[in-house]
Amino acid sequence: MTTSVRDVTTEAAINAIVAAHRGQRGSLLPILHAIQAELGYVPQEAIALLAHELNVSRADVHGVVSFYHDFRSEPAGRTTVRICRAEACQALGADALVTCARDRTGVSLGETRADGSVTVEQVFCLGNCALAPSVEVNGEVLGRMSADRLRSVLDEAVSS
Ligand code: FES
Repeated sequence: MTTSVRDVTTEAAINAIVAAHRGQRGSLLPILHAIQAELGYVPQEAIALLAHELNVSRADVHGVVSFYHDFRSEPAGRTTVRICRAEACQALGADALVTCARDRTGVSLGETRADGSVTVEQVFCLGNCALAPSVEVNGEVLGRMSADRLRSVLDEAVSS
């Protein structure tokens, strides 16, 4: 098996983050957040490395990664669209936005298009309930979202 440049840099990034948190109690979550912030996702190789470094089982690390919906196990697309499905947004049409996103991108919630253009995710409250339904596009929260407007956002994302 050959080792790619990406593997080396990914492992180096993870090692640096672990070293920065060495000796801290309860450091698994902060480390996972730091890895996701640095790499955009928590790669599979991080699971074994963190288990070894923190003296916990791989199942423990995997359990935390899979419990928190914010952690990704694969790189996100160039555009990340997060549709709020909490109460206020749900009451004002979030389901129609989910359907629109699925129809336009061909992917379900939590998936990325094969061309790497778009990731569609669900989120539970973006703190923008007064302007529901809300969607976050690459970190920018957009309120009073309609299916037509979301389709325009996705058209641009898919073609970029
Ligand atoms: S419920 Fe959607 S932003 Fe709060």
